[in-house]
Amino acid sequence: MKGPGQLDDLSKIEHQRLYPRLTDPNFLVLRSRRIIFQSWIKTISGNNLTILDVGGRYQPYRPLFGNRLGRYIACDLTQTELVDVIASGESLPFGSNTFDVIIATQVFDYFPHPRKAAEEIYDALKPGGVLLMSVASVAPRFADQELWRFTRGGIRATLSQFRTLEVVPESSSLGGFFRTTNIWLHSFTRYSFLRKLYEVTVCPFLNSAGWALEKAGLSRDDQFAPNYSVFAVK
Ligand SMILES: C[S@@+](CC[C@H](N)C(=O)[O-])C[C@H]1O[C@@H](n2cnc3c(N)ncnc32)[C@H](O)[C@@H]1O
Repeated sequence: MKGPGQLDDLSKIEHQRLYPRLTDPNFLVLRSRRIIFQSWIKTISGNNLTILDVGGRYQPYRPLFGNRLGRYIACDLTQTELVDVIASGESLPFGSNTFDVIIATQVFDYFPHPRKAAEEIYDALKPGGVLLMSVASVAPRFADQELWRFTRGGIRATLSQFRTLEVVPESSSLGGFFRTTNIWLHSFTRYSFLRKLYEVTVCPFLNSAGWALEKAGLSRDDQFAPNYSVFAVK
């Protein structure tokens, strides 16, 4: 039996991922991902979309589909009140050509065999269907279950069967420096009162500085990009 607060907790996490605050050390990548996804979702045609969210424990990007959403199915290895099907992305229990859109954000990092998951996702998409994906590139280990980090080339190799593929860094190397420094300092702030203090002082300062430099477009280099967003069409 799940606790009564679970849905509330999940929707709080969902909202924080979609609309991160400056006090969040992941602000730069999360904000950028929302903007990139918003622009991609506008290009997807049709209404009443059938969508699968692989690793869909929180579903931060579901609201971006608004009233174009038909069916939304979430699969994950972990049961939450938002998960419809307990299944691995490497072995999807759905028929071929089923989904208009498959979302797989920050989950390829966990698959023991990412290429197998790519094949399953490809099979489950309708022809012309879209995979919206994000993966970590230059980032610390957030959980021991994480297995991989992806370069631009690694993403292309993993998704080589897709007809078209767009890979966009969520921040340049410059913004990546501010994000990585922020995560590094945040994770070494051990005591909770110090962490709180960090989150309302240094963290927003680093986020604002990184954001301003990204906006100024000073660098296009993505060698140290912290995360990539991906749009792939079957
Ligand atoms: C970092 S969370 C990302 C959650 C969400 N997609 C997001 O972007 O906020 C990774 C999720 O992937 C799930 N996961 C890990 N391995 C998986 C697998 N083999 N198949 C499906 N989901 C998996 C985890 O349980 C977790 O919910």
